Amino acid sequence: MKVLVTGGLGYIGSHTCVELLQENNEVVVLDNLSNAKVEVKDKIKQITNKDIKFYLGDMIDEELLDKIFTEEKIDAVIDFAAYKAVGESVQKPIEYYTNNVSTVLVLLKQMKKHNVKRIVFSSSATVYGDPEHVPIKETDKTGNTTNPYGTSKLFVEQILKDLYKSDNTWDIAILRYFNPIGAHPSGLIGEAPNGIPANLMPYIAKVASGELECLSVFGNDYPTKDGTGVRDYIHVVDLAKGHIKALDKLQKEKSGLYIYNLGTGTGYSVLDLVTTFEKVNNVKVNYKIVERRPGDIAECFADPTKAKEELNWQATLSIEDMCRDAYHFIIKNKK
Ligand code: WQD
Repeated sequence: MKVLVTGGLGYIGSHTCVELLQENNEVVVLDNLSNAKVEVKDKIKQITNKDIKFYLGDMIDEELLDKIFTEEKIDAVIDFAAYKAVGESVQKPIEYYTNNVSTVLVLLKQMKKHNVKRIVFSSSATVYGDPEHVPIKETDKTGNTTNPYGTSKLFVEQILKDLYKSDNTWDIAILRYFNPIGAHPSGLIGEAPNGIPANLMPYIAKVASGELECLSVFGNDYPTKDGTGVRDYIHVVDLAKGHIKALDKLQKEKSGLYIYNLGTGTGYSVLDLVTTFEKVNNVKVNYKIVERRPGDIAECFADPTKAKEELNWQATLSIEDMCRDAYHFIIKNKK
């Protein structure tokens, strides 16, 4: 298949491009480089010995999208392009709704125009808001989201459901990611946010490498085992492979709307991650407890049964693998 990957030079997008190429797909990437570096294109080539076709631009640019669909015979789209920092979204709602929602409407309009109706959408566990219970199933209540990032993902999920209701020849997979961390074992690609990391793992890794001074733990008074936030951390390579399985499912079914949690089913606290990271990499991670971060919830982890049963997919890499690969990437790419 020829797959258009929006945000394909970003963290999850680049790992998915590697898996797509290794499964003999052709890959076309559209990325505005707002949270990615163009050098990632060459790293993907180093890993796979294959090229991708890269378009620099923004999904809001309807003319560019029209050009891409006209010039490239696209069979399916994987849409990663979005801002994704929970804390930041609370401060910048307009930017988040513009970038995460309006752009998808432009993409879907062009897909419809060019009769490309197969899409895998990068959604998030944050659509569950503060979950009533854990582990979380796909049938659990969504809504009451606690930040604009999660709300933007909920909005797009609703758009996709309404689109499918209007025309059931669409072929749609909605993947709700839990907390992707880690890096490709080669150390060539990984999570390299521009500026100060908003997410936990890249921040831990940069404190360990000496690039940052001290980790701020956002609250230790949550109703969890040690008071710090609990999340379902999943290796980014496992997550990328989940996208291949979702595309296979769509290709087999030809039409439908499918929703899957992509998580491991296990929750780890912030302090669990810090101590595991220190043990696996034989490093020290300085931290201090500070106030809770607005928009955060206490606990969130997946029941990944449905993806196992319907996609024949499950996470296989351990929290130790995630910590080891995350640090290997930071050290290998330290300036
Ligand atoms: C994890 C835990 C923080 C930073 C992420 C992505 C979002 C979505 C869901 C994919 C929380 C704590 C963090 C720090 C800390 N993923 N923390 N100090 O908020 O769960 O959301 O996963 O769609 O895109 O942002 O991840 O890594 O920011 O926080 O104590 O410096 O670590 O309070 O408990 P989050 P995160």
